[in-house]
Amino acid sequence: MPANVLIPFYSTFGHVHQMALAVAEGARSVPGTEVRVRRIPELEAARAAMSGMEWYVKAQEAMADIPEATHDDLRWADGIVWGTPTRYGNMTAQMKQFLDTLGGLWAKGELEDKATGVFTSTANVGGGQETTILTSLVPLLHFGMVFVGTPYGQNPGIFGAEGRGGSPYGPGTVAGPDGSRQPIESELQVARNLGSRVALVAAALRPVRLKEPHGQQPDAPAYRTEG
Ligand SMILES: Cc1cc2nc3c(=O)[nH]c(=O)nc-3n(C[C@H](O)[C@H](O)[C@H](O)COP(=O)(O)O)c2cc1C
Repeated sequence: MPANVLIPFYSTFGHVHQMALAVAEGARSVPGTEVRVRRIPELEAARAAMSGMEWYVKAQEAMADIPEATHDDLRWADGIVWGTPTRYGNMTAQMKQFLDTLGGLWAKGELEDKATGVFTSTANVGGGQETTILTSLVPLLHFGMVFVGTPYGQNPGIFGAEGRGGSPYGPGTVAGPDGSRQPIESELQVARNLGSRVALVAAALRPVRLKEPHGQQPDAPAYRTEG
């Protein structure tokens, strides 16, 4: 039974956008997989602060046609691959803000047993390639998602001493201190590999997920402010 794969991403300057398209390509390579690429909404404060920056405006224009992610997209998906640039070794505020709207889905167990993975972009090789993915995993585990990484055996692109993005935890690219470096082929290939792996794992989990009883116990805490 093929899977539905959702790729919600946030990108300021376009690097994570390019990686998202590669993840989508990989997911689509698994026959029968349905794929949706969706933008995580920009924060008004960020838009106001950066709207005078040419690189920001160009990157936002290039992704303007991509619909924003909705809660129904998350319900539709069997696998969800999140993209976020690093901010101090963590996910962006934009992604965290979006996750914070998901209390209603969490409360009903609607994300449980869905396959998930994370890809990122940093300015520097040591700037958060690994920590951004590992720290993003924390809320995804609260949701009950099943984490999928990019192991060395399947991803020779992450093996070696060269300054490249990507790790066993997930794909990454390195934007460079001034943002001018673009994703290279070996980084994009790791992104494609995560897309196909999540598609396969999500398809395998689908019968399990649909059979198991889900939902919160009546006496459990409910953070139902939104969603
Ligand atoms: C507030 C802020 C914090 C950042 N923190 C880090 C960091 O901890 N490590 C790092 O390597 N890059 C850091 N960066 C650089 C971004 O990760 C970089 O611009 C991004 O990876 C580019 O991806 P994008 O083109 O998809 O936006 C930071 C950028 C901003 C604006």
